[in-house]
Amino acid sequence: MLNKIKLWKNQQHSSSLRDRIIQIKGQQVPSHVAIIMDGNGRWAKKRALPRVAGHHEGMKVVRKITRLASDLGLHTLTLYAFSTENWKRPKMEVDYLLKLPEEFLGTFLPELIQENVKVTMMGYKENLPDHTLRAIEKAMDDTKDNTGLTLNFALNYGSRAEIVDAVKHVLNDCQNGIIDENGLTEDVFSSYLMSATLADPDLLIRTSGEIRLSNFMLWQLAYSEFWFTDVLWPDFGEQHFIEAIEAYQNRQRRFGGV
Ligand code: FPP
Repeated sequence: MLNKIKLWKNQQHSSSLRDRIIQIKGQQVPSHVAIIMDGNGRWAKKRALPRVAGHHEGMKVVRKITRLASDLGLHTLTLYAFSTENWKRPKMEVDYLLKLPEEFLGTFLPELIQENVKVTMMGYKENLPDHTLRAIEKAMDDTKDNTGLTLNFALNYGSRAEIVDAVKHVLNDCQNGIIDENGLTEDVFSSYLMSATLADPDLLIRTSGEIRLSNFMLWQLAYSEFWFTDVLWPDFGEQHFIEAIEAYQNRQRRFGGV
């Protein structure tokens, strides 16, 4: 039975975790899970460490959860790594956060390639430092033909700005006769968003006890299931991710129907 599920190379799940993975895979697995990874700063503060130590620990969790998402057969994992509002943080912290994609991909990209993961990015490329963009674009290019998990980084992403930009783009296309007002359906509008190639998230997870969306995928989360936990992101483990997915599988999604 255990041999029947394909696992990430060298993945060592405990036997109880493997049993839960098998159980989950026997039911409807959310295709797209989006995560607001919150609580890195508080994790560091509790240990009298600088905030960036929390971000570094958070990056290790990204690795772990990516492997598990792939093992569970998710189609997409979207991670809110840097918001358009995060520029308000001290420069040193911003610089550190924007170095993490490079550090992460510098060591993890070969594994992502080998495991058929496709890396994508959703966010404003302008303003990102060259080194950050280069690392992301290289990963996107190296993995563009992969057909397994899509690992989508929301980087320099803000949902309201995304929606306003989409509206401007629609108005422009209307003026140029590319679309007409009557043709503007919800699906067409979605195709103007940065998430155009992705299905809407089925499940949103937010860690650290905060119960808000913080300008994340406001349009796309309209019918998603939400799961909140007090666990801080650096403490978020495989068992928590499994717990969230099990909770999702016990929800009844009605999309406004009965
Ligand atoms: C929010 O916690 C977290 C962030 C703004 C950054 C999240 C980034 C990571 C987890 C690492 C990303 C990794 C890659 C590979 C890009 P916070 O700092 O607001 O925590 P606090 O609310 O406790 O202060």
